[in-house]
Amino acid sequence: MCLVDRPRSGRFFIFSGALLTLHKVGLIGGDGIGPEVVAEAMKVVSAVGVRLDTVDYDLGASQYLRTGEALPDSVLAELRRLDAIFLGAIGPPVGSRDVPPGALERGLLLRMRFELDLYVNLRPFTSLPGASGRPFDLVVARENTEGTYAGEGGFLRRGGPLEVATQGSVNTRFGAERCVRFAYDLAQRRSRHHLTLVHKTNVLTFSGDLWQRTFDEVGAEYPGVDTAYNHVDAACIYLVENPQRYDVVVTDNLFGDILTDLAGAVAGGIGLAASANLNPARTGPSLFEPVHGAAHDIAGTGRANPLAAIRSAAMMLEHLGEADAAARITKAVGDHLDASAAAGTNMGTTAEIGDAIAERV
Ligand code: NAD
Ligand code: IPM
Ligand code: MN
Repeated sequence: MCLVDRPRSGRFFIFSGALLTLHKVGLIGGDGIGPEVVAEAMKVVSAVGVRLDTVDYDLGASQYLRTGEALPDSVLAELRRLDAIFLGAIGPPVGSRDVPPGALERGLLLRMRFELDLYVNLRPFTSLPGASGRPFDLVVARENTEGTYAGEGGFLRRGGPLEVATQGSVNTRFGAERCVRFAYDLAQRRSRHHLTLVHKTNVLTFSGDLWQRTFDEVGAEYPGVDTAYNHVDAACIYLVENPQRYDVVVTDNLFGDILTDLAGAVAGGIGLAASANLNPARTGPSLFEPVHGAAHDIAGTGRANPLAAIRSAAMMLEHLGEADAAARITKAVGDHLDASAAAGTNMGTTAEIGDAIAERV
């Protein structure tokens, strides 16, 4: 999959007489299984022969508890100068009260998405080799800087019997249009040339209207792309029963969050689902991370599947202009899944899966 037009970034160096690119990549292992899956992804990147100039950032729950800050301004300023950022996962165990809700999710991850203007969250899903049913190959372009995630809202009389909480959804024409345009461009480049808008226009009549009009008006510039519209609740049915109907899906931030966990489960498990938070204008680094979270329930057990992180690393390499290395990783993952399906075996521990992909590339 070609993510964006301008392929190369990074500094150059000479190795054995060849001119190679040295990409400066920030690594955020984060919390729970995050550091475990990042280690396997970097093992595979090394094995495929791409040299990265990596910088480790100690961010996540323990750093937050130590300092009271999720993402210091000075660190954000450093991140802006990188070629890419690679993140495992951040967030406390669900239900834990040590870290206030949202402190890391909003304070670190969303802050990077917003400040670095990573306005498309691209999440591809393909059927597992050997899976029953017809194969599918779809990609969700999730708007990544607006909607309910924008943080609009607040409390009135918090804690009292007359308490009011509002949490609005911010939808700008500019924000919807740039994401929709990205999705049309992507649909035009893919073989089926099909784009589905997913929203809830039957109830969200203000934001839905803005999205639908934007979708229709931008669509007039793409006569070669066939379009469809699904309400998000129906899209949940279709994703489970007939994911083949989708090629590119464009949707708002919250619907995209929920739909992509569902699509991950449909496509063989959340441990396989990769994502790219893109700044398509390349005014700064893009951020690559698995769709899944910190999964504290399996942290330290060797049961975390690193393939989502490994596939996210392939998306990062493609973005950095290392298309050949990216394709080799993608093929190695596919071959490994094929072989495991054929043998009917469990794929092994986190490190064993990483080793197996590193060997195949
Ligand atoms: P989660 O994605 O961490 O886990 C959901 C379920 O999927 C769990 O049963 C977990 O064991 C399983 N799972 C997740 N990744 C897996 C993998 N690689 N291999 C095998 N199984 C895997 O979601 P959650 O439990 O709702 O959230 C836990 C924490 O992570 C929360 O603090 C949440 O805010 C955070 N979170 C962070 C990100 C991110 O950093 N991008 C994404 C989602 C959730
Ligand atoms: C994701 C995660 C994030 C989101 C959280 C951790 C802020 O669930 O990347 O899907 O909701 O976008
Ligand atoms: Mn999510």
